[in-house]
Amino acid sequence: MSKIKVFSENTELLEESNNQERIKIILADIGIKFEQWQLPSNVQELNEEEIYELYSDQIKLIKETYKFKAVDLMNINNSFAQNSNFKATREKFLKEHTHSDDEVRYFISGSGLFTIHKAKKVHSILCEAGDLINVPANTQHWFDMGSKPEFKCLRFFSDESGWIPDYSDESISHKFENLDEYIELC
Ligand SMILES: [Fe+2]
Repeated sequence: MSKIKVFSENTELLEESNNQERIKIILADIGIKFEQWQLPSNVQELNEEEIYELYSDQIKLIKETYKFKAVDLMNINNSFAQNSNFKATREKFLKEHTHSDDEVRYFISGSGLFTIHKAKKVHSILCEAGDLINVPANTQHWFDMGSKPEFKCLRFFSDESGWIPDYSDESISHKFENLDEYIELC
């Protein structure tokens, strides 16, 4: 189940909730879009083309709204963790950064932890199947796929330059729970 934890910059837990409406309100307050798209029960059996077809209306709307040119499907499973560069790849996402484009993700299966550092607070959102999240351009954030990554998500983009991370001078991400710890403490 999706969940949010809100911390002070000093890691004091201020609020936590797994109520979808409350998560939406907390995130809307800091300019983050969070919504659910319906997941059919056979979604795991669909191939990439069938997934694009299933969500064609939503994909069109997201592309128009955010001026994205394309969408692709990220399919990450545990074998990804066997790659020799897995640790470095995970670390790259884990350090606080911004992008020049919005980061829009729709989770079809599995989970991932987005953490937004904004308004002197840290918001950690466990995204699960059915969740769409938009981290606007120039918003400080980090992402963790965990030590046993397992997720499938739609990823929207204009061109790859929009993804280049601009790292913060002083990342505070190491002070906060990563995905493994977050799930363990749930
Ligand atoms: Fe990012």
